[in-house]
Amino acid sequence: MRNLTETNLTDAVLAKLESAPNLRFRQVMSSVITHLHACIREVELTEAEWFAAIQFLTAVGKKCDDKRQEFILLSDTLGASMLVDAMNHRTPAGATESTVLGPFHVPGAPALTNGANVASGFPGEPALFSGHVLTMEGNPIAGAQLDVWQADAEGLYDVQRSNLNGRQLRGKVHTNEQGKFWFWTVRPTAYPVPTDGPVGQILLNMGRHPYRPAHIHAIVTASGYEPVTTHVFAEGDQYLDSDAVFGVKDSLVVKFARHEPGAAPDGTVMKQPYFTVAYDFGLPAAKA
Ligand code: BEZ
Ligand code: FE
Repeated sequence: MRNLTETNLTDAVLAKLESAPNLRFRQVMSSVITHLHACIREVELTEAEWFAAIQFLTAVGKKCDDKRQEFILLSDTLGASMLVDAMNHRTPAGATESTVLGPFHVPGAPALTNGANVASGFPGEPALFSGHVLTMEGNPIAGAQLDVWQADAEGLYDVQRSNLNGRQLRGKVHTNEQGKFWFWTVRPTAYPVPTDGPVGQILLNMGRHPYRPAHIHAIVTASGYEPVTTHVFAEGDQYLDSDAVFGVKDSLVVKFARHEPGAAPDGTVMKQPYFTVAYDFGLPAAKA
């Protein structure tokens, strides 16, 4: 294995994988090496470009900490997250479709009772989110958990505000015996994915905007059923057709209906205009 050239170098590197004990790892690495070399050949990569790529990946790594995951953001904005998602969640018709997790989910969100407000004290117009968690046959699933999180009306998640302690704008609600859940929040707004790091720079270089359409995240789980990681998106948002992370699906777009002050459906008397949004989640039975 000497005197390797641009024609036989790829085969020499691939041959080195033959002693890898894990067959799946060998398959994945073989594909990575094949495509990486093919890309370098296809574009006739210069040394300066290769060094710029290394600097970029170094900057992505340096931007990561316990609150910021720039590699997830990179995967999301390149469509890799949604491709992995699509291939791993070929859900049956009627099941709630999945979409990207994103970097702002935080484990250990507070438990909330139905009717609680996840956005108390945050800027935004009040919104009552209600719905059911149902089986594929349309039967209610009692005790299903919705782990929800969202940005406020200024487009910021709790973890993006340095003055906040603890978990806010997020919580876990459970369905009642009728499979119903409801909670108060604020109407979400469109917001840009973080652009103050290297991923923001390549979005700019690609001539792309960084915006996501307004949405509320949910991970819905129930014992005996397949979980789903998803969003509900606000109907009419200007970015539904150009989401920076390619996550929008028609089945997830819902109307935030505006109401004048008065009694809301859960009995709360509202002194200001408010919105209601309703969505039923469908979970398929767990795979055996
Ligand atoms: C989000 O919706 O929270 C999100 C998803 C992908 C990248 C950035 C943010
Ligand atoms: Fe989000």
